[in-house]
Amino acid sequence: MSDLLQLKNVSKTFGEVAALRDVNFQVGTNEIVGLLGDNGAGKSTLVKIITGYHQPDAGGQIIWKGKKIEHLSVPLARDLGVEVVYQERALADQQTLWRNIFLGRELTNRWGLLDIKTMTRETRKLMSTVMGFTSSAVSPESTVGTFSGGERQGVAITRALYFEAELIILDEPTMGLSLSETKKCLDFVEGIKKAGKSCIFIDHNIFHVYPVVDRIVVLDRGTVAGQFMKNELTLDELIDRLYRVAQTGSLEQRDQASQ
Ligand SMILES: Nc1ncnc2c1ncn2[C@@H]1O[C@H](COP(=O)(O)OP(=O)(O)OP(=O)(O)O)[C@@H](O)[C@H]1O
Ligand SMILES: [Mg+2]
Repeated sequence: MSDLLQLKNVSKTFGEVAALRDVNFQVGTNEIVGLLGDNGAGKSTLVKIITGYHQPDAGGQIIWKGKKIEHLSVPLARDLGVEVVYQERALADQQTLWRNIFLGRELTNRWGLLDIKTMTRETRKLMSTVMGFTSSAVSPESTVGTFSGGERQGVAITRALYFEAELIILDEPTMGLSLSETKKCLDFVEGIKKAGKSCIFIDHNIFHVYPVVDRIVVLDRGTVAGQFMKNELTLDELIDRLYRVAQTGSLEQRDQASQ
């Protein structure tokens, strides 16, 4: 699998706090990576570096499709096709569903006017093919302020897919979702895989992460404690190893010691 994104020796300190230390991290083309780790492990900081929000400390490298990026800014990350889906912040509550799908990237006709007809039609198509909205209460004209958390997330992921994001990042997307909404969110992650795109999926619940990812990376206190392909170990083995990380901060050493 070729690498879409590579971070090499990335560190990030905030004053005294080393949020990330010498992190090496990759996301392959069409790969779904689960990023696990306790509170404060550095997951969101890693995301913020990938989205250009934070600059890494000197010495680290960010490589996109094999090319070194000298200064990754928020607009550049967006241009490259990195999209983060936030549950609450991403949508304009007062606006309709079709407006939200096309927010900031509105389609216009040849006179430069908003092409509402096409945007509504595209939204209706996406509703059935991607979002799986079956409720008759929801139409392209619905105001998203009334949508459930899961529906909102669906809109945000659909928008990212529609606009050809290459890497979609979900930072704790199932937080506060009901069981059925969580299921839907996980379906969306599978949709990202099917669409041929890549994803970083952060969630505290490994029962959510395990089924939908190709690879799992475990962060512990700012460093990569271990990583493995999903098909290398069962969910039970994963749980066992996560306990080990919590106790020792490492996956690997204990493994060797126990052999
Ligand atoms: N802007 C900042 N200024 C100072 N310290 C920060 C900043 N952002 C993060 N940190 C610190 O860096 C460490 C990693 O934080 P981060 O938010 O990346 O953790 P996380 O793995 O996302 O945790 P959680 O699971 O709770 O979301 C923490 O100790 C945090 O307090
Ligand atoms: Mg976080």
